[in-house]
Amino acid sequence: MKKIFALALCAVMMLSVLAGCGGKSDAPADNTPAQNEPAATPDAAPAPEAGGTIGVCIYQFTDAFMTTYRNALQEILEGKGYTVTVVDGANDQAKQNEQINTFITQGVDALIINPVMTSAADQIISTVQAAGIPTVLINREPSAEQMAVYDKLVYVGCDAAQSGTFQGELILETPNGGDINGDGKVSYIMVQGDPENIDAQLRTEYSVKALTDAGVEVEQLNLTRGDWMRERGQEIVANDLAQFGAQVEVVFCNNDDMAIGALQSIQAAGRKVNEDIYLVGVDALDAALNEVSNGNMTGTVLNDAVGQATAAVEQMEALLGGKTFAAGEQSVYVDYVKVTPDNVADFMG
Ligand code: GAL
Repeated sequence: MKKIFALALCAVMMLSVLAGCGGKSDAPADNTPAQNEPAATPDAAPAPEAGGTIGVCIYQFTDAFMTTYRNALQEILEGKGYTVTVVDGANDQAKQNEQINTFITQGVDALIINPVMTSAADQIISTVQAAGIPTVLINREPSAEQMAVYDKLVYVGCDAAQSGTFQGELILETPNGGDINGDGKVSYIMVQGDPENIDAQLRTEYSVKALTDAGVEVEQLNLTRGDWMRERGQEIVANDLAQFGAQVEVVFCNNDDMAIGALQSIQAAGRKVNEDIYLVGVDALDAALNEVSNGNMTGTVLNDAVGQATAAVEQMEALLGGKTFAAGEQSVYVDYVKVTPDNVADFMG
């Protein structure tokens, strides 16, 4: 139902974009009526392609979740007839700034940008504003004040606090509410993403807050940054298990790739998820869905890459159709979904 609605919306937006861009020089020549000919009749077949060139900047190609996301973006955009170039910022803000400038010099019609650093948002926004390029920011949310300076700018993402809350709820919903050893408190380790990133900050805060809001006593044994990477998750959890052993009841990972690394160390230490330790992530990567269904992860949270890519393209097309965004109304959110063994099959395949 949601999909049908989304498709219908896309079709409407596509038409409005075509109407708005009818005179563009890069429209396919054989569909463009000569200047003094009457406009196409309403029942004429729509042009097969939306046309237009789009630059997509991704913070780092090796990031597992952003790989799913960028592939979805490319597929949706190309499916709509856009010419798309996707570039790798290699986790280097200076490099990404150059890539943005290059796209502007090349005259792209719109930009979709996943900033390397949230703290670079002001600079990115003033650059695209000076060039007048309609821009969709994704995945790393700037503040409403930062976005308010440019009305052809919109952010598409998720409410990171929600994913943290869902992680906490996954633990609360276990048979012993996370208190495996029955000592009256939940002792956990936190494997954090890049701490500069609001997703990492809010997931760290809200996962634990869900427990304390439910009146559960908690003890943080350790918190370590893992920068979203599987190998870091593995190293951190190996060290923490060596140091804290059976005290560790819950492993919170800010994302699934780190949770998959964590699982390797949990298994290497002879521990068994859902029996003597709990493990949760975020993203619903295919590998994590498999582990949830096998009982090797307690749960994860769907970070809907396809839903966000679809929404990003919808907003981009709205901008191309002339839409402007009022201050305070520049964030578009896609919901997270809690994934447990009970519903994991709905997300697989
Ligand atoms: C998060 C995602 C992480 C990582 C990060 C990059 O939303 O959960 O896995 O991709 O974005 O900014």
